[in-house]
Amino acid sequence: MLRNDQLTQWDRDNFFHPSTHLAQFARGEAPNRIISTAKGCHVTDREGKTLLDGFAGLYCVNVGYGREEIIEAIAAQARELAYYHSYVGHGTEASITLSKMILDRAPAGMSKVYFGLGGSDANETNVKLVWFYNNILGRPEKKKIISRKRAYHGSGIVSGSLTGLEIWHRKFDLPIPQVIHTEAPYYYHRADAAMSPEAFTDHLVAELEALIEREGADTIAAFIGEPVLGTGGIVPPPPGYWDKVQAVLARHDILLIADEVITGFGRLGSMMGSDHYGLKPDIITIAKGLTSAYAPLSGSIIGDKVWAVLEQGSEELGPIGHGWTYSAHPIGAAAGVANLTLIDTLGLVRNAAEVGAYMRQAFVDALGDHPNVGEIRGEGMLAAVEFTADRDSRAPLPAEDKLVYAMAAHMNENGVIARAMPLADLLGFAPPLCLNREEADRIVGVTADAVKAVLG
Ligand SMILES: Cc1ncc(COP(=O)(O)O)c(C=O)c1O
Repeated sequence: MLRNDQLTQWDRDNFFHPSTHLAQFARGEAPNRIISTAKGCHVTDREGKTLLDGFAGLYCVNVGYGREEIIEAIAAQARELAYYHSYVGHGTEASITLSKMILDRAPAGMSKVYFGLGGSDANETNVKLVWFYNNILGRPEKKKIISRKRAYHGSGIVSGSLTGLEIWHRKFDLPIPQVIHTEAPYYYHRADAAMSPEAFTDHLVAELEALIEREGADTIAAFIGEPVLGTGGIVPPPPGYWDKVQAVLARHDILLIADEVITGFGRLGSMMGSDHYGLKPDIITIAKGLTSAYAPLSGSIIGDKVWAVLEQGSEELGPIGHGWTYSAHPIGAAAGVANLTLIDTLGLVRNAAEVGAYMRQAFVDALGDHPNVGEIRGEGMLAAVEFTADRDSRAPLPAEDKLVYAMAAHMNENGVIARAMPLADLLGFAPPLCLNREEADRIVGVTADAVKAVLG
């Protein structure tokens, strides 16, 4: 292709980038990077620099880049039937096959899959369905959704409200009043340093019960949570957390929505995060790993109990008044079928467990004793290195120095992508599930060099 030397200027003049400092970017003060090609766990930018992608795009390219099986499936689908809608009982071979494949991999008790395009719109769908459910059951007051501080569930109006991170709310008039947040299951940041992990779980459960008591259980429809907190800090739950939370929800007839946008299809070293932690959700959100981001596709997996009421709603009201033009888009569905098949044939769920554990141990070996490393944690192919100014007090790094960004930039210079996570002093890692041990060693080595260069 002829090289377009104006591309960088066009980028600054025309392109509204998400999660970007808009003014600095437009002025040319914030960097841009144009990615051109990718293969396996590596991406290559327009200047020819190749980087090991330690975050799989945005924790989504789970099978790695350039997989011919998915590329061929997309091309074949586009040739045969690029689009048909899924309204009023229409479908395609790919979308019907994919819904069967998803339910075969989902926990017991799930009934149907509704398809959207991304995690945010799937969570919008979920909340609408929960509201519909309680209206059909004659409980119009039971509408509030409990989410958690530091949750990430998207950036729509409802999904952005479910998100528990301030920058997604500020000046956007969010959260909406129907969404309330309870304490984050973030043991490292517990208020009482002397508290054991088990006692912290009990504290969180007591906080949840107190919130339900204050609001009134008859006003609360659902609780939403990521099995492992993702963008809020890559934080696995403290011991017994999900069992105890589920017991509270069951006692108050509150539905559970498991947001598995990150954890679905292998990221934790289990096919689904719900099975990993013994969750029995009423609705599951899926996206990212469903197609490994080869095409945009999300889903809401609806459990038996909710489905029965949705059917009852149709008996009363006729066809359900919900749908997108691109629901179950055949190209996304074909990518999903090929992707889920590949995850099985390559044994990527097991690889995520094995290489992920290896990588975390390598982080502990390289950085566990560093005076500014507060915690190294993760699950499956997810890892986080959390930094502190002082290990005893767990004080944050001085914000004005932007040290975590400096470390991520240093790593970039040395050919590895890590994510400086928002509103935290931590580097996050979520490589493709096909990562091998040599690549894991490289990620850890380049991280350790960056820590030394920036923090000493
Ligand atoms: C747990 C979770 N839910 C929802 C979303 C939103 O998905 P999307 O960005 O596809 O709208 C994300 C995105 O990172 C996520 O991590």
